[in-house]
Amino acid sequence: MAKPQTVYVCSECGGKSAKWQGRCPHCEAWNTLVETVESTASGPRPGARHGAAAAQFAGRGGLAAPNGPILLTEVQAERHRHQPSGIDELDRVLGGGLVPGGVLLLGGDPGIGKSTLLLQVLAGLAADLPMLYISGEESAAQIALRAQRLGLKDAPVRLMAETQLEVMLDTLANARPAVAVIDSIQTVYTEALSSAPGSVSQVRECAAQLTRAAKTSGITLVLVGHVTKEGALAGPRVLEHMVDTVLYFEGDTQSRFRLIRAIKNRFGAVNELGVFAMTEHGLKGVSNPSAIFLSTHAEPVPGTCVLATLEGTRPLLVEVQALVDSAAAPSPRRLSVGLDAARLAMLLAVLHRHAGVASGDQDVFVNAVGGVRITEPAADLAVLLAIQSSLRNRPLPRGLLAFGEVGLAGEIRPAPRGQERLREAAKLGFSIAIIPAANAPKGSGRQFEGLELHPVSRIDEALEVVRGLPA
Ligand code: TYD
Ligand code: MG
Repeated sequence: MAKPQTVYVCSECGGKSAKWQGRCPHCEAWNTLVETVESTASGPRPGARHGAAAAQFAGRGGLAAPNGPILLTEVQAERHRHQPSGIDELDRVLGGGLVPGGVLLLGGDPGIGKSTLLLQVLAGLAADLPMLYISGEESAAQIALRAQRLGLKDAPVRLMAETQLEVMLDTLANARPAVAVIDSIQTVYTEALSSAPGSVSQVRECAAQLTRAAKTSGITLVLVGHVTKEGALAGPRVLEHMVDTVLYFEGDTQSRFRLIRAIKNRFGAVNELGVFAMTEHGLKGVSNPSAIFLSTHAEPVPGTCVLATLEGTRPLLVEVQALVDSAAAPSPRRLSVGLDAARLAMLLAVLHRHAGVASGDQDVFVNAVGGVRITEPAADLAVLLAIQSSLRNRPLPRGLLAFGEVGLAGEIRPAPRGQERLREAAKLGFSIAIIPAANAPKGSGRQFEGLELHPVSRIDEALEVVRGLPA
């Protein structure tokens, strides 16, 4: 077979060049040219051979495209059949389970547990359906060793150590697994491209061909992707557009706990969080995770405040820590781990302007305990209380929690589903809650046994309440 033609396409303007150049000759952007397989109208498209092979065994829920446009009313709406993965916390993020013909991208730092989790999933399903695990990172012996450690040595999972795309496509077409895992997409390469495995063009082309094969044959395909230091999936974000579901592993590898978050899900909601603990025998789901992100201090310490946050349908209590210290350099540092950094600067400005608390000559560091990432603005109030506590070097009273969004005008805005957050806090024995006035329960509020509620509507009011509390 003749080697397919490749061209270099600019990722900014789409302009083509015959050879690689540092600067796009069309739009003059730097470092944007990416090697791509040329697809001509007359010649066969790259992967067409395999696409055809895959189409031959279509039928297991394959998504065959009709010819020409049809009326929306004529289309049979098909509910996605979710196949439970056997791991409840994973099914929760997936919206019920794996979908035939669906392509899932699982991203995460090295060593966080991607391979472990997927081996557990395949082993659990292998009794009923054919499962295939293709690894480009580990040998079959290494995978077998892991399976032994997990107590899954006897599961009939098929293993293959392979990195070449064309071989994989043939194997998928012949072995017809129900679920295939490719660990990882960065190790896969196609001979059609001259660039190295893991480069943007390789990853994009290989993922596209694998996705096409999965769609036409109804195979559930799981692609493992590495995350770079910057937090993006190494190389191409383009992968995120191609696949149906994107899941990310979060959490620091030092702690036992691991989180899986859905960034995108064509088959379900995206706000759910799966919580796992890494044990001696693999990942175990944590069904009641609300208290795992609290650190245990013998005595209350300055600079911490507990936040009642909401992840999907589950309330979580997370300790927010702040350290405010006089800056050594002329421009003070603002650093946040697990919380929005841009929002931190905004909150400090609000604190100054509307509560008279200056921090312009101070370094400010904030952190969410346990490697959890908090994106909701309802964390604002807890962040500010932790900062104020560190600045004054006065601990907040034991058993205090807070939530609420802080606006630019210094107002405290309500958080969604405040009652659920309070109920969880009361259940865990918290005794004082500083909450947005609009979240205060109507009537007596008796439902939160033992929880003293302090509704506030402005940031200065919130600080006033804290000052009046017995230490
Ligand atoms: P791994 O799943 O290989 O991570 P990834 O594929 O995301 O790079 O490894 C996860 C880590 O977990 C590894 O450092 C060893 C550890 N581990 C356990 O603690 N218990 C276990 O049962 C297994 C299999 C691994
Ligand atoms: Mg791995």
